[in-house]
Amino acid sequence: MKPESIRKYRPFPPVSLPDRQWPDRTITHAPIWCSVDLRDGNQALPQPMSVEEKLEFFDLLCSVGFKQIEVGFPSAADTEFNFLRRLIEEDRIPGDVTVQVLVQTREHLIRRTFEAIDGAKRAIVHIYNSTSPLQRRITFGDATREQIRDIAIEGAKLVKELVPTVPQTEVVLQYSPESFSDTELDFALECCNAVIDVWEPTPEKKMIINLPDTVQWTTPNIHADMIEWMCRHLNRRDSLHVSLHTHNDRGTGTAATELGLMAGADRVEGTLFGNGERTGNLDIVNVALNMNSHGIETGLDFSDLPRLRHVYERVTRMTVGERHPYVGELVFTAFSGSHQDAIKKGLDRRERELRENPALPWAVPYLTIDPQDVGRSYEAIIRINSQSGKGGIAYVLDQEHGFDLPKTMHPQVGKYIYDHADALGRELSTDEIRDLFFGRFVNLESPMNLVDFELDNTAVKGEMLCHVTLEVNGETVRGTGKGNGPINAFVHFLEEAGHKDFKVSDYRSHALRGGSDADSAAYVQIQNLGNGQLIWGCGVDPSIEMAGLKALVSAWNLQHVEA
Ligand code: KIV
Ligand code: ZN
Repeated sequence: MKPESIRKYRPFPPVSLPDRQWPDRTITHAPIWCSVDLRDGNQALPQPMSVEEKLEFFDLLCSVGFKQIEVGFPSAADTEFNFLRRLIEEDRIPGDVTVQVLVQTREHLIRRTFEAIDGAKRAIVHIYNSTSPLQRRITFGDATREQIRDIAIEGAKLVKELVPTVPQTEVVLQYSPESFSDTELDFALECCNAVIDVWEPTPEKKMIINLPDTVQWTTPNIHADMIEWMCRHLNRRDSLHVSLHTHNDRGTGTAATELGLMAGADRVEGTLFGNGERTGNLDIVNVALNMNSHGIETGLDFSDLPRLRHVYERVTRMTVGERHPYVGELVFTAFSGSHQDAIKKGLDRRERELRENPALPWAVPYLTIDPQDVGRSYEAIIRINSQSGKGGIAYVLDQEHGFDLPKTMHPQVGKYIYDHADALGRELSTDEIRDLFFGRFVNLESPMNLVDFELDNTAVKGEMLCHVTLEVNGETVRGTGKGNGPINAFVHFLEEAGHKDFKVSDYRSHALRGGSDADSAAYVQIQNLGNGQLIWGCGVDPSIEMAGLKALVSAWNLQHVEA
């Protein structure tokens, strides 16, 4: 912003709470969760959900484990009224799920709301009125505190009067001083206590006091101070569930909720992936998975986030950002080489150590949780672009295609694939990486092509004899070679044929995981005797011996292509 723009803003006043307790507390258990997707989410959607879509979303929320679900504002629109009626009349609300309905403290709306919940087994009736000085001045035309408090009291009285009109329904009561986040604390308290006095909750029949961060005007620590202050001063604290309802105007919905829980709140309202008005409501997935990542059970099951995201995006027509915590496309992806290296080492080591200690705590660099725990796969962890390193490329070849490359081969393969990604200026798919690896390093046939190789198995004095047919630069060469193994015999044959400019300096082989039936992979490193350069080649063949020879020919071809 320009300085002249900035001058019109003011700091937010802090709360005087010198003996605040929340900074020394930690979160040790999950709150009561309430999804408000079907109200806030729906109110905030450019294209609202149809009743069918809401029903699907409701079922999804139940399957995740929400036990309290705000189903809308039934007095505001027929769709919301009919939606709730369908849930009740078609017996779609699981026995352990309580539906919540929202309503302003206005008589006709409250009466209509009670018509909407009639017949539900259990329902939370959530009334609210706006309390902040800004709202009192602008929206209510300079209403006094007393007038605003009386609106709350009148609404609370009417609700109390209507509860007996729905005898089949167990009604739980909830009050929100809307715009709590910029209401003077003593006045928010006055309104809440006035409602508590009307409803007279008990420890056995608690009511909910919801303290909304309706608009985030300030930092999460001040929000926490406000919550702690309220928790200390509210009447009948042991008969209340104090609830948080944070929005995300400053991008701190999650932080404000977490600090609010430390400050004493018992309950959290929010939505999947933070949908909601303006910058959204609290992202419950984020807070719950943060808790899981500290070993806290939440009662919510986010083990199949891709499915949740898919349904959410389809029915809300919203999209989840690529960097969105836990669920975004890129959040378990490392492009940087050093990070890829660290992740690969971390995962490999964990795999080894798990054999000794199956209860090993999670500790892998750069990954706060195991992606598999939220339905993501390891494949997605490492992707290759021009900033990737050898470790990441080796990881992809290993995990995706079953090649366990020797460590000293990583730089050569990594550089080749890295240069390719750089030239293309984009990320490479795992199949492209495999194709590049094959094209450059595996079973190379030019300028040298191994046409035939037969081993005379009768070793004489520990030496084997091989019969070889080769093509080099299109010319056929035939001959024999002797050695203590097939590679050695072949090398001697090559020397006899005049190819003396290299020596074999390393050799590895293994069965190829996930490859075609029983294929083997072999890696041969040769040293160019002219310039000392070390070159790896790879061979793949059903026979481990042939794989080794093909690896040697590939290395030889690379030496002569590179020369
Ligand atoms: O954000 C808010 O203040 C609300 C209330 C109605 C709880 O949504
Ligand atoms: Zn809200």
